[in-house]
Amino acid sequence: MYHKTLKPFPANFLWGASTSAYQVEGANLIDGKGPSCQDVKKVPEGTSELDVCADQYHRYKEDVKLMAEMGFKVYRFSISWSRILPEGTGEVNPKGIQYYNNLIDECLKYGIEPLVTMFHFDMPAALDKRGSWGNRESIDWFVNFAKVMFENFGDRVKYWLTINEQNMLTLVGPVIGTLYIPEGCTNKLKEIYQQNHHMLVAQAKAMELCHKMLPNAKIGPAPNIALVYPASCRPEDTTAAQNCNAIRNWLYLDMAVYGRYNNLVWSYLEEHDACPEFEPGDAESLKNAHPDFIGFNYYNTVTVEASTQTELKEATPGDQQSANEMAGVYKGFRNPNLTVTEFGWEIDPQGFRSTMREIYSRYHLPMIVTENGLGAYDTLTEDGKVHDDYRIEYLRQHIKMIQEAITDNVEMMGYCPWSAIDLVSTHEGIRKRYGFIYVDRDEFDLKTLNRYRKDSFHWYKKVIATNGSNLD
Ligand code: BG6
Repeated sequence: MYHKTLKPFPANFLWGASTSAYQVEGANLIDGKGPSCQDVKKVPEGTSELDVCADQYHRYKEDVKLMAEMGFKVYRFSISWSRILPEGTGEVNPKGIQYYNNLIDECLKYGIEPLVTMFHFDMPAALDKRGSWGNRESIDWFVNFAKVMFENFGDRVKYWLTINEQNMLTLVGPVIGTLYIPEGCTNKLKEIYQQNHHMLVAQAKAMELCHKMLPNAKIGPAPNIALVYPASCRPEDTTAAQNCNAIRNWLYLDMAVYGRYNNLVWSYLEEHDACPEFEPGDAESLKNAHPDFIGFNYYNTVTVEASTQTELKEATPGDQQSANEMAGVYKGFRNPNLTVTEFGWEIDPQGFRSTMREIYSRYHLPMIVTENGLGAYDTLTEDGKVHDDYRIEYLRQHIKMIQEAITDNVEMMGYCPWSAIDLVSTHEGIRKRYGFIYVDRDEFDLKTLNRYRKDSFHWYKKVIATNGSNLD
């Protein structure tokens, strides 16, 4: 649909950006923080450990000041479970509470709304030892953690996100260092979807609790949603795209919003004897979540064709943005119409608009983009500049599409690209940078850790100041 005139961004549109605790904070084992699964995992060869990252734990004041200089209305960050509860349950770490109080207050000092992700890929290692999400008790562990957060921060935090990219935890857990499979497990797929079920119930209960404890707050899920295209107009490719859409995307939003399993996913699980077990009360809890909005991460679309394999088996591993083959279900296809980033992820702003339209037409809830961005090698010049025109171009194209979607009458609340500041990637190190703020360090040499404003910093400042009307 071509619009002659675009509607403006709403006056209260939440411009900002995102980070996550384990990728940005550093200070991973100090001031009483317990280890998370990220601190005990073996990082991919040639990439940095997660002990210092961008050192935001010690430099949050400087970082929030820079965000304020850009004009942020919102800062999306996550709270590290094991900084608050070192063992995952039990004793609360007062220094952990203090840190997030300071961070929240620092944001509010500049009129920046904190948008808090409750769980971003960092299960306390102590809970992994107790069976992780595979243990039915994980539901209570998470709800207890939610309660501690609501009690301590709920007087100031109005926007909450439950679980970051639950779909990626389920589909590509090993790549991001999060999947825990107990010894002796004989049906891995069933185990994974049982864990997924526990997360879904935990998320639903946390949303219900949020509404009960903080009636003025708003809460929503934050999956990674990428509309899936069929590789051709062959009818079989459309069926494959429906399969992939259901397994990758709609399962998570159907559950968060309607509290029911997507029928295609259920049929796929039946085929594998992998349907999760419900306990009494689960169905009711799932129906009682009622999110206030949908947060979603978007990097690119996915394209698939029909899989010619007849024997249903496990998918071959990829990463967050690649669909490899799931035999008999779909097969990833490199879209020849799209360019790719230096790290091989396709770039598809038009697909962003289609994704927003599709989500809204299915769920009719206001939406906030909780991640979107370009991972690239950046170079700091001798005079302290980073000329990241490639990132500006990527962001400009995507912001334009938000305006198109707004004009399509999609209800958009805000935009939080990844990432506010350089941080360590899930599996490709600090060299894959996304930030508006450059952090002076390399993979293994921590250098000065000083902050520098990239060209995109100055550009985004102007975008925010004009409420998206000047993207030049
Ligand atoms: C999302 C995650 O999958 O994508 C982030 O929520 C992550 O944690 C981001 O960093 C970019 O991915 P990557 O693999 O380039 O770090």
